[in-house]
Amino acid sequence: MKSDQRGASVAYFDTPVRWFALAAVLWGVVGMLVGVIIAAQLAWPELNLGIPWLSYGRLRPLHTNAVIFAFGGCVLFATAYHVVQRTGQTRLFAPGLAMFTFWGWQLVIVLAAITLPLGITSSKEYAELEWPIDLLIAVVWVAFAVVFFGTVGTRKVRHIYVANWFFGAFIIAVALLHIVNSAAIPVSLTKSYSAYAGVQDAMVQWWYGHNAVGFFLTAGFLGMMYYYIPKKAERPVYSYRLSIVHFWALIFTYMWAGPHHLHYTALPDWAQSIGMIFSLVLLAPSWGGMINGIMTLSGAWHKLRDDPILKFLIVSLSFYGMSTFEGPMMSIKTVNALSHYTDWTVGHVHSGALGWVGLISMGSLYYLIPRMYGRKQMFSVKAIELHFWIATIGIVLYIAAMWIAGVMQGLMWRAVNPDGTLVYSFVESVKATYPFYVIRLLGGVLYLSGMLLMAWNVVMTVRSGRPEVAQVPAVNVAHA
Ligand code: HEM
Ligand code: HEM
Repeated sequence: MKSDQRGASVAYFDTPVRWFALAAVLWGVVGMLVGVIIAAQLAWPELNLGIPWLSYGRLRPLHTNAVIFAFGGCVLFATAYHVVQRTGQTRLFAPGLAMFTFWGWQLVIVLAAITLPLGITSSKEYAELEWPIDLLIAVVWVAFAVVFFGTVGTRKVRHIYVANWFFGAFIIAVALLHIVNSAAIPVSLTKSYSAYAGVQDAMVQWWYGHNAVGFFLTAGFLGMMYYYIPKKAERPVYSYRLSIVHFWALIFTYMWAGPHHLHYTALPDWAQSIGMIFSLVLLAPSWGGMINGIMTLSGAWHKLRDDPILKFLIVSLSFYGMSTFEGPMMSIKTVNALSHYTDWTVGHVHSGALGWVGLISMGSLYYLIPRMYGRKQMFSVKAIELHFWIATIGIVLYIAAMWIAGVMQGLMWRAVNPDGTLVYSFVESVKATYPFYVIRLLGGVLYLSGMLLMAWNVVMTVRSGRPEVAQVPAVNVAHA
């Protein structure tokens, strides 16, 4: 892109950063809208209108794929490309390939949006897409790795800043997880069968599933934390040494925790116990990272009062701390005996997804987008503040409703009369859950409204700004 090539000592190539950032906002709206629809269907099942494409079983994977891979994925591409250039003070390696990753990823998203409602699925959770799309994902991902590591390799500073370690680990781990878990034997263009069988299939799937949480939904977002919080707070990272310990401890521990998804199944008991122990250990690096992020604000706490972007970034870390405390507790077998299959799990998921992934993404995008369009800040700072409060209230309603519903369901299902018969039938627990489903829907509507406000603010910012022609590396506080 010509406009990106002119300028001062280092001209960054930001076209893919801009496009991925805008795509993230669009897919965020779409994915959360589908979340709201399925939340409404759980309260009022007839909302599927008798149309198979709108049935809950098909829209649910559409929701998870849209929010994780379309929304989260686009934020990760945008920020990885943004951060790696700034911290390496170099231009993006292979710009054409970077643009290919943009179009390739959008094609994956569109194909997912077509095939999932049609009921075309491998039936592996978070890996539902069929083999031709899996192949496309693998090609795009390898291109992503070439661009990212090529940029790291051509950096102009000796040091590799810690945010890049997290982005790099996320890229390598996701490639490994995707390729191993997607191994399948195709029987037609739209149907394949897993290369694994029985309990091995389950174990590979949840090794993948848990590490999708650890690397797709956590490591890359920690990369954002290590860049955007110091930038926004204008303070160096609280402890650089801790960030390195955090990195190695986190990536080592996550790999072993997958079996906590398979407690009380045919998986050997020892494997379940290993999963539980590593999950408990995982509390330490998770909290170490959270503390490192939050304490970066030491001496600058007052900034939280009037900087809504910092509010997004710091409160996201509080939710990260909450969900990474809750996760290890839920991995204890006796606790899992109560929580598994209940809405407690869904509450845990969304305290991580809405609170951690959602808020840190929004904070990072609010920082990034105006700078990409030659403005100092977003069109409306008041709207960012409003978005923060609507989203936070939405999250609290969502997760509190699911926690109460989950514990209630678990207790109702295990209640037995003195003669050994069940106290409640299953349908009684569904009926008791109804009010909580309505409250969750309300929380979801609030969260989606915040996202719509963000979309408006982004459109206004882009319309009133102009793409920056070039950027001289600013004082790099992240390096200080
Ligand atoms: C407006 C916001 C959202 C609403 C209303 C919403 C709603 C829902 C609903 C109703 C379910 C199905 C729960 C069930 O089967 O019982 C679900 C599942 C899920 N959602 Fe969301 N969601 C929202 C945003 C997000 C975001 C932003 C993410 C990720 C970044 C996310 C990730 C997930 C995941 C991973 C599941 C599967 C959970 C599981 O299998 O336990 N959601 N969501
Ligand atoms: C120390 C960190 C964490 C640990 C040890 C942990 C542990 C757990 C446990 C024990 C379950 C319930 C498994 C079951 O009963 O089926 C679970 C479910 C889940 N967690 Fe976490 N969690 C952690 C952090 C997070 C974070 C930060 C997120 C989101 C960003 C997250 C997303 C999920 C998802 C999506 C599921 C549902 C998977 C499914 O059944 O579809 N977790 N986690």
